[in-house]
Amino acid sequence: MSEPLVLGIETSCDETAVGIVRGRTLLANEIASSVEEHARFGGVVPEIASRAHLEAMIPSINRALKEAKVSLRDLDAISVTAGPGLVGALLVGTSSAAGLAQGLGIPLYGVNHLAAHISVDYLTHDLPIEPTIALLVSGGHSSLLQVDDITKSVAKLGATMDDAAGEAFDKIARILDLGFPGGPAIDLEARSGNSSAIDFPRGLTTSHDWATRPYDFSFSGLKTAVARYIEATPSHVRADVAASFQEAVVDVLLLKALAACKSSGIDSLVIAGGVAANSRLRHVATERSAAAGIQLRIPAPALCTDNGAMVASLGALMAAAGRDATAGAFDAHSSLPVESVSLA
Ligand code: KG4
Ligand code: ZN
Repeated sequence: MSEPLVLGIETSCDETAVGIVRGRTLLANEIASSVEEHARFGGVVPEIASRAHLEAMIPSINRALKEAKVSLRDLDAISVTAGPGLVGALLVGTSSAAGLAQGLGIPLYGVNHLAAHISVDYLTHDLPIEPTIALLVSGGHSSLLQVDDITKSVAKLGATMDDAAGEAFDKIARILDLGFPGGPAIDLEARSGNSSAIDFPRGLTTSHDWATRPYDFSFSGLKTAVARYIEATPSHVRADVAASFQEAVVDVLLLKALAACKSSGIDSLVIAGGVAANSRLRHVATERSAAAGIQLRIPAPALCTDNGAMVASLGALMAAAGRDATAGAFDAHSSLPVESVSLA
């Protein structure tokens, strides 16, 4: 099947997202977010998320079908995030997807949310992406990967030892009173700030770290340094703190990603996940990749944060590659490892 019509369902966190693709063509991308219901708690509340998914699921599927101008009967396969994520939230997606696939008599692909973040690049860029190094930076996850085939083979080179990059953005935004989620707010605030105003630490970049764990990340020291600076500097300029913090994150992510390209001899880099929407990361990545002769791919900003099209895109790639579908109904896997691209 070269251009399968696939509906993808994503419910790993606070977005009920349904996307429809035909092969590599995006037809619909519907997102209902419960973010406002979590805002006053400063983070996602699992019970609220699950309930919101239940309410939003059927209307979201219907909106996506309408937008794509297709009917359920036209679909070749269903794809759904099987993990990682909040287990109650994931279960709303997997049970809805399993019911749909069974009712329609079509294959069901239970896929990894993290691999889907990478595969969505296929909807933006035409070229095959593999083999590639992938920098995956989201709210719950930060890692450097080598991707030989996104439908079956992803190897972890390194990962964060503490906070995820997006989590660091969210925590610093809270300290700076910029609201939740923090990434977009810091991105905006930093535009009017001086990124070299404060020299914040770059985690795990001593020569010992480069020798022992070159592709791991740590953001907890940076977070503490920013908090201490704010406490010790009552007259701090918020935009300068935001810009300098952002610069430290961007710098260390790219130092490590480009080092991984160099040492593996792979001259291709994909940056994916919610933090890949960051305008400064996109800008510096473009400059540094060009200087290093690395072919850079970053999905369109709207496709970087959680969405259903990314899940549909991985399902379409799996179907086109003839990969095994996931048998029957299945459980959600809240800590599905990044190397498990799908549940066969
Ligand atoms: O991939 P994603 O939508 O959800 C997870 O799988 O976690 O990533 C969400 C994360 C949040 O931490 C959010 O603050 C961050 O991505 N984010 C950003 C930007 N947009 C979203 N971080 C920095 N700059 C942005 N523009
Ligand atoms: Zn995500």
